Amino acid sequence: MGLQEEIHKRKTFAIISHPDAGKTTLTEKLLLFGGAIQTAGAVKNNKIKKTATSDFMEIEKQRGISVATSVMAFEYGGMKINLLDTPGHKDFAEDTYRTLTAVDSVILVIDAANGVEAQTERLMEVCRMRNTPVIIFINKMDREGQDPFDLLDELESKLNIKVRPLAWPIGIGQKFQGVYSMYEKSLNLFKANKTKIEKDIIEISGLDDSLLDKTIGESAATKLREDVDLIEGVYDEFDVKKYLSGEIAPVFFGSALNNFGVQELLDAFIKIAPSPIERHTDMREVKPEEPKFTGFVFKIHANLDPRHRDRIAFLRICSGKFERNKFYRHVRLNQDVRFSNPTSFMASDKNVIDEAWPGDVVGLYDSGTFKIGDTLTEGEKMMFQGIPSFSPEIFRELINMDPMKSKQLEKGIMQLTDEGVAQLFLMQPGNRKVVGTVGELQFEVIQYRLEHEYGAKCRFDSMAFYKALWLTTDNETKLNEFIRAKQGQIAYDKDNNPVFLAPSAWMLNMAKSDYPEITFHATSEFKLAVKAG
Ligand code: G4P
Repeated sequence: MGLQEEIHKRKTFAIISHPDAGKTTLTEKLLLFGGAIQTAGAVKNNKIKKTATSDFMEIEKQRGISVATSVMAFEYGGMKINLLDTPGHKDFAEDTYRTLTAVDSVILVIDAANGVEAQTERLMEVCRMRNTPVIIFINKMDREGQDPFDLLDELESKLNIKVRPLAWPIGIGQKFQGVYSMYEKSLNLFKANKTKIEKDIIEISGLDDSLLDKTIGESAATKLREDVDLIEGVYDEFDVKKYLSGEIAPVFFGSALNNFGVQELLDAFIKIAPSPIERHTDMREVKPEEPKFTGFVFKIHANLDPRHRDRIAFLRICSGKFERNKFYRHVRLNQDVRFSNPTSFMASDKNVIDEAWPGDVVGLYDSGTFKIGDTLTEGEKMMFQGIPSFSPEIFRELINMDPMKSKQLEKGIMQLTDEGVAQLFLMQPGNRKVVGTVGELQFEVIQYRLEHEYGAKCRFDSMAFYKALWLTTDNETKLNEFIRAKQGQIAYDKDNNPVFLAPSAWMLNMAKSDYPEITFHATSEFKLAVKAG
């Protein structure tokens, strides 16, 4: 099979949701349909359970599980589907954001009772930044939930995207009878079944078919006709092009736990979801069908065995064919590197592979040469863009507790932040190290790993900052003035970009109105925006 065919066969995506909406359950059911696993319950729940927030070994164990299930590849309908896992715990949200840079589309899971939740909004913001195509799955229809029309309104208003139902629920909770597929014009009736795939599809000639009344009852049939009439009146026809450009999200309803609505979702997914798409670099756009290999690292995972400091770098292939044992250029280091044991991930198995294609993700053993965002090519000097850092929300100063080990501490914190565990900022005078994260857990992870992997002891002192904002301007004088005026609140990121550590939302607004010449960016994505603009 040639490059072109391999590309067309692949769909690389992630499932995102607010914790507990049903991401793990849906993942498992997709693998079940894809034949990658035989029975439900085979995929370990890789969520860090809420009760274990301070149990570090538990975190490590969970992290270990998530290496194995980081990428789950399976075949369905002649397609090779790469499902990239994202951590469920909110403290690892940044990991999720970065994984989203490596996919071509996402499925967003919503709990029918809870609707749009905090994490849903944040994840969708990230998708909206790069116009990632989104399919929405409204889950837990077997439980009492909100009215489907209200849910659609809430999705549109809170997620800033248009929606278009492609399936419609008949009742909800106790009265949930099934789904009418507007796409296929068929009825799929509900049978609760958690472990097996059972389907009861009834073909009807249209909504006027009297079989409908016979099957679901007269009043449910009348309600369905009214609902569908309303939908067709209010919503435009589904337009795949608008879905692909991230303007409109098709919506499906079902119950992942009961295997319900999952196949409809998967069938539509393989029909409409994009194959690997072109990606931006700082030099040019890279098309997947270019014969020369390119790829970037979007995630780095530490080895679980602390005696071995090697790590696994996850490489997303963007163009051409990746081959084992071939030399590639590590662009940032300007060095040629090759990999003798690149691994692929099939559900929970890891295998050494000889070749991989655009859309695939391979694991590379790394002894510390990779940073998140690193690019590999066949020699061309360019870096893939759009792997942003987001403003952390918790800031602490890293204090060395053992002056004899400052070198180890320095090296350790550099490597851990290269891995993306947290962000590091330096403050002057004195090169004070400010560590920023999105969750409390990371501080525990850093402290533990610095001690066990680098032999360095540290402590964290709280710092009362609210957000880190990257600064850009056309007016250097004003920027320098700002930096002087805010001395105690200015730091530099690892690439030496100036960052304002705003003490509060109010102070940030003040700074914005006092310095209109400066733009304050909540993500480091501004580098891309500056280029595009
Ligand atoms: P997450 O990965 O998004 O965090 O969610 P997960 O799949 O773990 O699901 C969260 C809870 O919701 C689980 O129950 C799961 O069984 C349940 N669930 C998922 N899909 C459905 C559905 O369609 N209907 C109903 N009624 N429940 C659903 P749990 O009690 O927290 O965990 P478990 O002990 O069942 O694993």
